Amino acid sequence: MGPPVSRFVDPAEIEPADPALRPRRLDDYVGQERIKDNLRVYIRAALQRGESLDHVLLSGPPGLGKTSLANILAEELGVTMRTAAGPTLERGGDLAAILTSLGPREVLFIDEIHRLNRAVEEILYPAMEDFHLDIVMGSGPGASSVRIPVQRFTLIGATTRSGMLTSPLRARFGIHGVLDFYSPAELKRIVLRSAERLGLSIEDDAATELSCRSRGTPRIANRLLRRLRDFAQVEGDGTITLGVTRGALERLEVDGRGLDGMDRKILHAIGFRFDGGPVGLSNLAAAIGEEPDTIEEVYEPFLIREGLLQRTPQGRALTSGGAAVVGYTGGGLFGA
Ligand SMILES: Nc1ncnc2c1ncn2[C@@H]1O[C@H](COP(=O)(O)OP(=O)(O)O)[C@@H](O)[C@H]1O
Ligand SMILES: [Mg+2]
Repeated sequence: MGPPVSRFVDPAEIEPADPALRPRRLDDYVGQERIKDNLRVYIRAALQRGESLDHVLLSGPPGLGKTSLANILAEELGVTMRTAAGPTLERGGDLAAILTSLGPREVLFIDEIHRLNRAVEEILYPAMEDFHLDIVMGSGPGASSVRIPVQRFTLIGATTRSGMLTSPLRARFGIHGVLDFYSPAELKRIVLRSAERLGLSIEDDAATELSCRSRGTPRIANRLLRRLRDFAQVEGDGTITLGVTRGALERLEVDGRGLDGMDRKILHAIGFRFDGGPVGLSNLAAAIGEEPDTIEEVYEPFLIREGLLQRTPQGRALTSGGAAVVGYTGGGLFGA
């Protein structure tokens, strides 16, 4: 059945456990330098003109800082932010009610914006483009359409699947920020800052180790840091040392490059159950008992980025690096 599984990424988790760790201003937001540099310009320009910021689409795997960045944008713009989640907006009227309640230049943040339904999207188009709603009153021959103006606002959409956005929706965002995994150096800055905010003592080499084993993801780094605190407190003298870190990560089944149990289970299944691949996503998902969407949104991006897994038109396959991780030496794409 492959190795046992432990999980650190809960795709259902929208809010992190510790709001104290969320960066508040652009200057606290580590990394993503290109995006930040550009946003600084757009924010200043909008403020100088007294206008709303153009609509912003933020995309990238879970835990890379999309929600944090949305909050920061509102903060830097000096406006309040309303938040909605794509799947909870069921009817056009739900969104219309939010839009008509927005003040001038305010931010509306829609998380998981790739999961809006058609009716809701259609309310959004004219609102984003011309700042009005077209509301249909009544039905049948007597139906009429009423145009209601809304304030000039900024929509910030976040998505783990920018490819799933409809093209008319995507086209209405003037600013696209594609978030990338963080380097170990960037994660180390985040870890040290989080430790400070939590009042933890962590040794420098321990912070380095943790930052190399956090899947390039701030949320995972912060979550593992809290577990290290537990181990340091109960089994050490409270200080997070390199020894505590290595021991704890081993017990949490996080390997030297930060892969967790589910990552290895995916690689293992492709190797030993599907002969190295290629295997279709749904077959792979069934074999390991995970949702296809979760594999695609949560696990795969990092495995691809690490060069362990590849996507081919026929499905997912191991690279030679991925085969080496699980000790698969059979055929498959990479050996051919
Ligand atoms: N660039 C960053 N700098 C510092 N901390 C960050 C950064 N990005 C994310 N974090 C931390 O990771 C947590 C998860 O980020 P979040 O914005 O919720 O990710 P997403 O919305 O993309 O899933 C945040 O609460 C914050 O503690
Ligand atoms: Mg989020």
